[in-house]
Amino acid sequence: MTEPRRGLFITMEGTEGVGKSTNMEFLANQLAARGIDYVVTREPGGTPMAEEIRELLLRRREEPVQGLTELLLMFAARSQHLHSFILPRLKEGVWVLCDRFTDATYAYQGGGRQMPMEQVQLLEQLVQGDRRPDHVLLLDAPVAVGMQRIRGRDLAPDRFEQEQQAFFQRVQDVYRERARQAPERYHQIDASQPLNQVQSDLSAVLDTIIMGRHH
Ligand code: TMP
Repeated sequence: MTEPRRGLFITMEGTEGVGKSTNMEFLANQLAARGIDYVVTREPGGTPMAEEIRELLLRRREEPVQGLTELLLMFAARSQHLHSFILPRLKEGVWVLCDRFTDATYAYQGGGRQMPMEQVQLLEQLVQGDRRPDHVLLLDAPVAVGMQRIRGRDLAPDRFEQEQQAFFQRVQDVYRERARQAPERYHQIDASQPLNQVQSDLSAVLDTIIMGRHH
């Protein structure tokens, strides 16, 4: 029997409150409508153990969390998720749609927390080798707009959501810079547009991705 063709690994990124959840759902429906076999997952998390690590990472606590502790936990969760869930699915020919991945570590731990980018790179290499997402969809909106949206929610902010605007501005700067450096893999979408326009842009990006695959 011949092996199925490897599935595509697509991630969605953005600062807080850019509409990631709504648009993840939209994208999943688009994949289904195109008859593509896919799974949806998220980081940190995606397996029972990695979800426990997520809980550790997001919970607000009295004890100050060291930047390196946070960085190592992100990659610990990722190692579990990547090797026990993502890679086996891709190998079976299933597409993986993941809510955040290592670009978030560059943006939040590297940019937001100002951890050395070399440390992020080192751990990326250790955990992933040369594996990178095939495509990254970056939802981009002014930081202030996103912050207003999360402040308007009923839920208490988690350990990241409680950060200030300057933190999220650094996060966004890193995302934008990474997108600028590899335009063939990153698709930046203006998330400050009306939702139907954001979704028509997303749908167009998906068509490009699918077309690229048939070559
Ligand atoms: P989310 O549900 O908003 O995606 O929550 C996950 C939080 O974790 C979000 O605030 C971003 C943060 N995060 C990092 O700081 N680094 C990472 O590598 C990932 C995947 C998420």
